[in-house]
Amino acid sequence: MWKPPERIKYQTAVERWPTAAEAERSRLYSPLSAPNLDLAQRTWVPAMVPWRASADGDVTQDVIDWYVRFAQGKPGAIVVEATGIRDIPSGPLLRISSDRYVAGLQRLTDAVREASDGQTRLLIQLIDFLTIRRRPQPEAFFNRFLEITAAHRQRLGMEREDEQAVRQRLLALTDHELEEVLSARELESLRAGYRERVTDMHLPAIAALPENLPLLFSQAATRARAAGFDGVELHYAHAYTMASFLSATNSRTDGYGGSREHRVRLPLEVYRAVRTAVGDDYAVGCRFLSDEIIAAGSGIDDARFFAQEFSRAGMSFLSLSRGGKFDDAKQPKVGWAAYPYTGQSGYECMPAYLSDERGPWGRNSEPVALIREALRAAGHNTPVISTGGIHSFEQAESLLVEGKADVVGFARQALADPDWFEKVRRGRGEEVLLCRYSNYCEGLDQKHKQVTCELWDRKALDARDAVLASDGKRRLTAPRWIPNSA
Ligand SMILES: Cc1cc2nc3c(=O)[nH]c(=O)nc-3n(C[C@H](O)[C@H](O)[C@H](O)COP(=O)(O)O)c2cc1C
Ligand code: SF4
Repeated sequence: MWKPPERIKYQTAVERWPTAAEAERSRLYSPLSAPNLDLAQRTWVPAMVPWRASADGDVTQDVIDWYVRFAQGKPGAIVVEATGIRDIPSGPLLRISSDRYVAGLQRLTDAVREASDGQTRLLIQLIDFLTIRRRPQPEAFFNRFLEITAAHRQRLGMEREDEQAVRQRLLALTDHELEEVLSARELESLRAGYRERVTDMHLPAIAALPENLPLLFSQAATRARAAGFDGVELHYAHAYTMASFLSATNSRTDGYGGSREHRVRLPLEVYRAVRTAVGDDYAVGCRFLSDEIIAAGSGIDDARFFAQEFSRAGMSFLSLSRGGKFDDAKQPKVGWAAYPYTGQSGYECMPAYLSDERGPWGRNSEPVALIREALRAAGHNTPVISTGGIHSFEQAESLLVEGKADVVGFARQALADPDWFEKVRRGRGEEVLLCRYSNYCEGLDQKHKQVTCELWDRKALDARDAVLASDGKRRLTAPRWIPNSA
């Protein structure tokens, strides 16, 4: 992952935790009562893909164990990982793309409800993404993938030679020479792997996204409701289709790109289709970006505008993330696909302990506060969830007390210690395992390996209840919390 050049080392520490009485009186542990979103406390575990679904995208026992472990900490809400809405092979990514997934998802919602004693609301994040391929071997690219065009022939002075000769010549060119012959997109496909964009209007499936996505999202949301989820989160963040529509880089000319009003059009149409399908009495919100953190990308002014549009349309909550784009991703190794968390925008999404003078904690807090302020000024009361580097009670509580958020998201901190919420509530904050912001977990995600935390995945490997990862070396869920005797 990209690191700020300053490379200042930070160590997570908390000076003081609240007593149980202080926690009880706090805003963090007070309920949220909003239209379609009632939370017992204002804590939220945002979506995190743990790579535990079956190869067909089904819920497995490992998926259930993963969410049950979070539910034992009884946060206000858990959002189940980005889950695919298209019925296409997507590797071990959880799917909700057909009615055949409903029974498995129902087992998941039942298990979470039981493990949290009904305290935790469970939502599911619905995702659409475009085609992305691995970086090819140059031989495969030139011999098979590259379509030879008249432009190539002309630039090579090989108008009459047979296609195989053109391919062989291309394969023999240096990097520098290739820059003179291939188009920018062809070079990208060679160097990073082919990747579709929402602006590829020459591709019929891309041109037709506005026609097809509302139905795909609304069918998925209907299944989510049937499976017992308390709500859905539309994934409008990071590197995926809907975020690409919102992006200032979206230059579509069919009324779905260009101005902010046009870029927000499909996200609103998707929302309306979902709302119509699930009814007015259900939580439907979205996750989007406070800032894309890429050159010529959307910034906070765009986010303010989108937030107001989403609220006006009737969304039940707005969850804000940051960065995480393909645009500045590092070049992958041959055989690997680009990963949207390797550039500076990826760093801003999941800041790590090697940082700049601003440090890895709370980098999203002020932008989210500004977005919430604009929403409130426009008369919208939609709950806003702020996430990014939050690990202490004090950070979370001050966001709420100062009116910078309505609910606080803890992603990696909840992965490091799923009992954070119960420990702090019971005045046992001293027992919290603090996230180091090492991004070991994110490194596993990048390789599509079962995600675990370095703080606990080698602990008590021989315990009776320890289920090990497929590499046999790591446990898949955090050991149970046994409170220290007082
Ligand atoms: C392993 C891992 C998987 C993630 N998967 C998702 C995801 O499926 N959807 C999403 O919106 N964000 C995802 N994220 C981003 C987190 O939800 C969160 O925004 C980010 O980690 C910053 O919050 P934190 O500092 O509290 O960890 C993931 C993060 C991690 C570490
Ligand atoms: S591996 Fe654990 S300690 Fe490191 S960032 Fe992830 S959750 Fe935090």
